[in-house]
Amino acid sequence: MTAVVLIGAQWGDEGKGKITDYLAQQADVVVRYQGGNNAGHTVVVEKRTFKLHLIPSGILYPGTQCIIGNGVVIDPGVLVKELEYLRQQGISSNNLSISDCAHLVMPYHQKLDEMQENQRGANKIGTTKRGVGPAYADKAARTGIRMADLLDREIFSQLLARNLEEKNHLLAQVYGVEGFVFEEVLERYLSYAEKLRSLVTDTSLAINQAINEGKRVLFEGAQGTLLDLDHGTYPYVTSSYPTAGGACIGAGVGPTKISSVLGVAKAYVTRVGEGPFPTELTGWEGEHIRQRGFEFGTTTGRPRRCGWQDAVILRYAVRVSGLDGLILTKLDVLDQMETLRICTGYRYRGSMLNEFPHSLQVLAQCEPVYEEMPGWQQDISEAREYGELPVKAKDYIIRMEELAGVPVKLVAVGPGRHQTIIKEPIFS
Ligand code: GDP
Ligand code: IMO
Ligand code: MG
Repeated sequence: MTAVVLIGAQWGDEGKGKITDYLAQQADVVVRYQGGNNAGHTVVVEKRTFKLHLIPSGILYPGTQCIIGNGVVIDPGVLVKELEYLRQQGISSNNLSISDCAHLVMPYHQKLDEMQENQRGANKIGTTKRGVGPAYADKAARTGIRMADLLDREIFSQLLARNLEEKNHLLAQVYGVEGFVFEEVLERYLSYAEKLRSLVTDTSLAINQAINEGKRVLFEGAQGTLLDLDHGTYPYVTSSYPTAGGACIGAGVGPTKISSVLGVAKAYVTRVGEGPFPTELTGWEGEHIRQRGFEFGTTTGRPRRCGWQDAVILRYAVRVSGLDGLILTKLDVLDQMETLRICTGYRYRGSMLNEFPHSLQVLAQCEPVYEEMPGWQQDISEAREYGELPVKAKDYIIRMEELAGVPVKLVAVGPGRHQTIIKEPIFS
């Protein structure tokens, strides 16, 4: 049994797409289990770049079964476009299935996301405005519409009518904007239904069968630990569970079936959107990392905020997801740095905090305590074996292992599929 969960250990965009694509070579099944098209996962293979939002990053391998699990919220229009985009690139999606329990992102969710953000003003979250938060809110409020409902014209039109009555009222009365026309949404969504129908199935059954048959299953997380609805920097979070527990709920698999959990972490930290970020670099160093790491959002194109590596965050990610190991990405981005800094703890009102605080007020006042290490100042992007890395780069990795308390298993030294160094094998 080999079921590996891959999660983001920081604030998202850690390189989960690249690592999933790399590991998918050896996997039989790749499963997305939470989030929606707020995610943007980039996969680079030779000279081609693929940007995926809903479809698992294993799709480039025709022999790998790809699954969108029940925990994902699906904007069917975006999914249909993504399938078409892949088809144009010569990539078949015959190996894709979609959970009948996954909830739909509706046009009013996207509109509400936009309106709520505007109304928050200075307190905005900085959402991707893809309707993901409002879709999960309806799921929890038990007014959501599921994939299986979309496939039944009668049920879908009843649910749509009921929802539109409420949402159009809300949009008009609270936000002063026009709502949506029933017939227009109905026909549009029913046309998506016909394009997706053949892919919709009981995916929990398929995943459990694969695990029981001894196949290799990889769970591809979206977002990251600090964007988790419960464990993240609430309210500056997403509305799903990017931590490892989310894989069980979002795929319909019991925790006893998971064999290992790995956290993908950049060699530094980035964040898109609002909220506290203790090690953020607002000067030239942050700009240097942004330019070298091309730190601009895959989904929204927004510049990502950049900062030094933060071991408090890594330890927190290890704890809340039970990580067995880390996968360190973008080490090459630090190639030119003379001196590197790693945050080992926070100073808060004169005392030391070694654990990530839950209060945003406390976090906002935390001062990072840094340890300095010399940079390696040479190009590592061509290294393919751990032994080929400069000693100072290895020292940086070893220090990260010591501070996080788990081994680093893979190291990425570039966006390409093969710019990946195996330190310890992932699939036994
Ligand atoms: P995800 O959301 O976690 O899948 O990450 P994104 O795809 O949003 O952002 C990561 C970006 O970094 C993408 O543009 C990747 O191609 C790129 N990337 C991933 N790993 C590396 C690496 O080791 N080095 C460099 N230079 N780029 C990388
Ligand atoms: P991947 O999977 C980075 C952030 C948004 C915002 C907050 C809430 O590519 O790592 P939402 O639209 O989810 O309601 O926005 O979460 N966010 C991400 N940041 N990577 C992502 O996904 C993200 N998905 C959402 O910027 O701060
Ligand atoms: Mg991303």
